[in-house]
Amino acid sequence: MTDRVRALVAAHRGDRGALLPILHRIQAEFGYVDQEVVPVLAAELNLSRADVHGVITFYTDFRSEPAGRVVVKLCRAEACQSVGAEQLVAHAEQALGIKLGQTTPDGSVTLEQVFCLGNCALGPAAQIDERVVGRLSPSRLDALLAAEAR
Ligand code: FES
Repeated sequence: MTDRVRALVAAHRGDRGALLPILHRIQAEFGYVDQEVVPVLAAELNLSRADVHGVITFYTDFRSEPAGRVVVKLCRAEACQSVGAEQLVAHAEQALGIKLGQTTPDGSVTLEQVFCLGNCALGPAAQIDERVVGRLSPSRLDALLAAEAR
């Protein structure tokens, strides 16, 4: 990963605000931003390690470890809450045996929260990988996850 990070830095050298696009490229290529890149980026971009670490941890899109094969983001914003989002979260956590922000031990599913997917009229809503789904119930979520596992 370190060699690739240095290549990405070289491609963005001279760009203002290069850190964010580089981090997005790392995340896109590797699926997460390993801690080992922090000192490399700091040295290459003439930033402190704290600066780099701060940016990585500020943006929730950056993962510190690989995600599961399927990423489920359950909407917990107000419109979805009013139609059962919290019950759906509780069901998902119980069914998968993990909490929000965690990945199942077999690496099959990562469960996350999100605050509005622009699908408010069809809540409770979720994003399963790149697909936004609505009108979720616990049983419909189970069915979607079972279909993803096939
Ligand atoms: Fe859930 Fe907007 S509040 S999609």
